[in-house]
Amino acid sequence: TGMFTYDPGFTSTASCESKITYIDGNEGTLLYRGYPIEQVAENGDFLETCYLLLYGELPTQAQKEDFVHRVTYHTMIHEQMTRFFAGFRRDAHPMAVMCGMVGALSAFYHDSTDISDPHQRMIASLRMIAKMPTIAAMAYKYHIGQPFVFPRNDLDYAANFLHMCFSVPCEEYKVNPVLARAMDRIFILHADHEQNASTSTVRLAGSSGANPFACIAAGIACLWGPAHGGANEAALTMLAEIGSVDNIPEYIARAKDKNDPFRLMGFGHRVYKNYDPRARIMQKTCHEVLAELGIKDDPLLDVAMELEKIALSDDYFVEKKLYPNIDFYSGITLRALGFPTTMFTVLFSLARTVGWIAQWKEMVEDPSQKIGRPRQLYTGAAQRDYTPIGQRR
Ligand code: CMC
Repeated sequence: TGMFTYDPGFTSTASCESKITYIDGNEGTLLYRGYPIEQVAENGDFLETCYLLLYGELPTQAQKEDFVHRVTYHTMIHEQMTRFFAGFRRDAHPMAVMCGMVGALSAFYHDSTDISDPHQRMIASLRMIAKMPTIAAMAYKYHIGQPFVFPRNDLDYAANFLHMCFSVPCEEYKVNPVLARAMDRIFILHADHEQNASTSTVRLAGSSGANPFACIAAGIACLWGPAHGGANEAALTMLAEIGSVDNIPEYIARAKDKNDPFRLMGFGHRVYKNYDPRARIMQKTCHEVLAELGIKDDPLLDVAMELEKIALSDDYFVEKKLYPNIDFYSGITLRALGFPTTMFTVLFSLARTVGWIAQWKEMVEDPSQKIGRPRQLYTGAAQRDYTPIGQRR
């Protein structure tokens, strides 16, 4: 290939040095700043995870209180922004609304768009983490035609988010602590995943010096696709389409058929060639949520568990090392929590925001950072002379 290495899909190109997240795909290991995801999800909460990802160490009690206070201070959005929503159709996909609203933040918070100023970078980071739940909940409320619910700063991060999504002015809403803990854990599991497509998008956008709000909006756009964040929505839609355990063999056969574009959504991963450690925790969380809600038989859970069993013992999936990924069980859990499928990827974007911000901050603070500018292998026409329109056939 002459001067450049041709690496479609960047399967063997490291785009940066990073100290944030480590994945060993063969072992099925995921570490946030060195801590195994299992331990972070079991012992920590989401804002502690945010602190860890942003600053590299677990906070002391005093540091944590200060961080929670500083994030919580920024939960409101500019009142004029609330009127932005009215410009969208009610039936717009909430991810379309998220792309627009998050991009618009840079039009409202001018005092945190100068990326050369560390203080402004810090305020932009806190604002993004604080405002994403508010914007996501508003996108949901707008979608279902209910009035916006303002944040409650006396609640913790996940509980406040459930409150903004599910409370209505006409009756009292009490956040169920078991469900809030499950929501928080889902946020932790999605918080970062090193140089995936959306994170690389954020870094690439940021490498030109674009402001952080615009960079995160770019990440949201990339996350939307069904091969990435959109897979949780696609996985649940697929489980519903399969409908019953009896239909599984037909779908397994389709997934294996080279002439059929169908893939088992929620299966396979570019890096994990072993069970996705997040999927294991997600499966446990899923059972906890269903038990708390008294859902004894969820037909989709039956389909999911049977599908997993069959796939894991099938030669095709074994040879290609295709295992369930995080999205396989997240959809069933989110649906049980009360979210429609259209909100699934929005929740992913909310949780991944801290990862995007931490990676963006690391890049901006790296003195060796250059603008991201891949090369290409040109395969088009050789040089030729322009034909006037009258002479073209
Ligand atoms: N069902 C059936 N076959 C599959 C699947 C699947 N879900 N995933 C990969 N394969 C096959 C694929 O056909 C290919 O076969 P062959 O080598 O014979 O051509 C082989 O496995 C390798 O697949 P690939 O597409 O070259 O692998 P990739 O690393 O480019 O793609 C992936 C990774 C996640 C995009 C892919 O596995 C996929 O499309 N999975 C379904 C969507 C999904 O669940 N995405 C969520 C990923 S985790 C969360 C996130 O990142 O947002």
